[in-house]
Amino acid sequence: METEVLNICEESLQKAALFLQDGQVVAMPTETVYGLAANAFCQEAIEKIFAAKARPQDNPLIVHIASFEDLYLVASNIPKKANILAKAFWPGPLSIIVPRRQTLAPNVSGGLLTVGVRMPAHPAARRLIKAAGVPLAAPSANMSGSPSPTSAAHVLQDMQGRIPLILDGGICPVGVESTVISLAGVPTVLRPGFVTPDEIATVLQEDVLLAPGAESPPQDGFIPESPGMKYKHYSPKAEITIIDANFEGFSQFVLNQKNEQGIFALCFDEEGEKLTIPAVTYGKKNDAKSQAAGLFCALRELDERGAKIVYARKPNTKGVGLAVRNRLLRAAGFREIVP
Ligand code: TXA
Ligand code: MG
Repeated sequence: METEVLNICEESLQKAALFLQDGQVVAMPTETVYGLAANAFCQEAIEKIFAAKARPQDNPLIVHIASFEDLYLVASNIPKKANILAKAFWPGPLSIIVPRRQTLAPNVSGGLLTVGVRMPAHPAARRLIKAAGVPLAAPSANMSGSPSPTSAAHVLQDMQGRIPLILDGGICPVGVESTVISLAGVPTVLRPGFVTPDEIATVLQEDVLLAPGAESPPQDGFIPESPGMKYKHYSPKAEITIIDANFEGFSQFVLNQKNEQGIFALCFDEEGEKLTIPAVTYGKKNDAKSQAAGLFCALRELDERGAKIVYARKPNTKGVGLAVRNRLLRAAGFREIVP
């Protein structure tokens, strides 16, 4: 299959909508990461998403909608808190777990009775959903296990020959996937993202929990509420170790390592030139938003440059830094050392 990459315009959106109505899969930009979209009501179309990504069948997909009313097409018995969060954060990077409607394709939510829903802030994504005329199920548009794509070029790296069309909407401004919140019981963030637990707690006026596994490796036998959390994720080919130290400690640690081919630092902008080994950077030192925007691109660059062993600077966990740390920990297989 030829994979076409088209800039966003009325014509390309119409073309993409026709593919979607025909049960095909199309990659679309969102404000978080690129998504691999298909008609959420069509089981065969959803099967093509799982096939294109080589995704485990029990890992449920997020359904994307273009208006508040669309929520009623995909969910039933919607809890009041879901409406409150939707009003506060949509359109935007918050996926809310709600009871699913039977009419959704069964494989969208991997056998669960719930479905994750979000209204993306990216205008092209909403235009595409409207043009297709149906909610679109869309996981991140990477091969299962590899870093999520934040540009059309990343999508092409993973999806060339596997899907017919990629809509190119430029670089995704947020750079990490949406926050996933469960409202069954105490509100719980299953996956940290751009919308923080504190922001959600302020809107709901109650405490919000962070699911185990978001900051530490899952314990043996632990079954995460979000099935995606049990899989290895965001992994470049290199072995990453997070170094829990300030820049001085980090550069001293790096200085003591052998300077062999394939050893890289993953650090913040303007730190790279002060190190004794080659470096890839992922955002400004005290700016978690820029780190979120740069992390996945940096992980892919490490692969391209043939990195085998990577020592990473530890991000601060304030605000969206929690999501940055969550993704980096997973990319590192939870390897972290104090030098
Ligand atoms: O920002 C995003 O959310 C991106 C863009 C494309 O919208 N999408 C994305 O989808 O990251 P995906 O499939 O890569 O991640 C979905 C996550 C998985 O960890 C999955 O297990 C969880 O959401 N999830 C989906 N539905 C769920 C449900 N019903 N209950 C619990 N977790 C769910
Ligand atoms: Mg994903």
